[in-house]
Amino acid sequence: MSEVVIRSGDNEVVAQVIEATTGDSGFDISSVRSTLGMVTVDRGFGNTAESASTITYINGEAGILRYRGYPIEQLAEKGDFLEIAYLLNYGELPDKGQLETFTGQITRHSLLREDMKYLFEAFPHDAHPMQILASATSAMATYYPDALDPKDVDALDISTRRLIAKLPTMIAWSYKYRAHQPYVYPRNDLDYTSNFLNMMFSVPAEDYEPSPVIARALNILLILHADHGQNCSSSAVRLVGSGQANVFSSVSAGIHALSGPLHGGANQAVLEMLEQIVADGGDVSKFVGKAKDKDDPFRLMGFGHRVYKNFDPRARIIKSVADDVLEQLGVDDPMLDVAKQLEEVALEDDYFVSRKLYPNVDFYSGIIYRAMGFPADMFTVLFALGRLPGWLAQFREMSLDPASRIFRPRQVYSGPADRDYVPVDQR
Ligand code: ACO
Repeated sequence: MSEVVIRSGDNEVVAQVIEATTGDSGFDISSVRSTLGMVTVDRGFGNTAESASTITYINGEAGILRYRGYPIEQLAEKGDFLEIAYLLNYGELPDKGQLETFTGQITRHSLLREDMKYLFEAFPHDAHPMQILASATSAMATYYPDALDPKDVDALDISTRRLIAKLPTMIAWSYKYRAHQPYVYPRNDLDYTSNFLNMMFSVPAEDYEPSPVIARALNILLILHADHGQNCSSSAVRLVGSGQANVFSSVSAGIHALSGPLHGGANQAVLEMLEQIVADGGDVSKFVGKAKDKDDPFRLMGFGHRVYKNFDPRARIIKSVADDVLEQLGVDDPMLDVAKQLEEVALEDDYFVSRKLYPNVDFYSGIIYRAMGFPADMFTVLFALGRLPGWLAQFREMSLDPASRIFRPRQVYSGPADRDYVPVDQR
């Protein structure tokens, strides 16, 4: 099949099929309006592809996620986050020399311009770290005016390295500022996740040794979050970038999009929900009942996904990482018991089964982050750190594609028809 025919009365559109290498092919509806005089409507873009993409393949029915063809299970078990960042952005796993160069460049770009300190200090101490991170990311454009052209490959390369290098420093410094502790500078002798943990949790008053168990688990969590196709935040990055805004502004838009509780903000919301259940006496079925009640706005946070309808492969991996980390760190967290009970009850309940609502990636990640020592309002920021290579890869793919156009959806106008202005004294 290479064409799809759409008919309306005597008119027809012959839409060319764009073949997928794996999964759903698409057909090009761009001439529907000029031929049929109508636009297509697709609330929440559940059936719409803006373009083809070579980055990530997802099969929601079968619970498959692959980055550039590699199954997420293999990447999470054997990969390194910076290696995966390279894979997402450049299409192939780096060889040894390429990885050393890439890692070395990222290590050497991790310092922030010293003046940026004052930016953090302009925020109230209780500012949400996602807002600080989005602002600091946006502000980076003012420090690197030479690297803002989205069509310039060298500018994209250096900006990619700067962002991956500096985001951990910005996140850690926003935490330190909020905790009234001195900023900790990056250490080039540590790997990416250990350096981040050191900047977050060390204080000048005593020695701090980043835990290899935590550093390894964080590496896995970052890999699991690294890309997810055309999700809300990646689409935001592409949309802002489609107007040829610079990469810092576009990634900042992605951070804002991620902050909502229906997207990345869900990991914080899950933990708050679990705390609420424990504080209420731990009756899991009461909260399952609330989630099913259409008159109650309560939803089971961490359940359901627009794409995954059988299971979220990332949730399976995270669940086993959670068991491992908690055991190795000797943490006995009542939240984990509540989470397990909730999962059991919901997975057998007809409401959740019939709507194919399964635990998503955020259901267990908060429990691990908590065991690692991160406060709940930092969880979504950690998601952002993981998703950054994906946003950059999506931005690069779109910016360097000669067929890209500014995103400009149509609408079906449903407001008042033509009417005349009435002066205020006659209204
Ligand atoms: N708890 C209770 N009911 C739910 C839940 C939930 N978590 N999720 C969906 N439903 C119900 C809806 O009420 C709806 O029921 P109905 O058919 O009787 O009206 C049905 O399941 C379909 O739900 P939609 O909201 O239409 O599904 P959509 O694909 O638009 O939304 C979403 C997906 C936003 C993830 C939703 O499942 C949700 O709100 N989940 C909780 C928030 C969450 O965990 N977000 C993280 C997503 S993963 C990520 O971004 C990394």
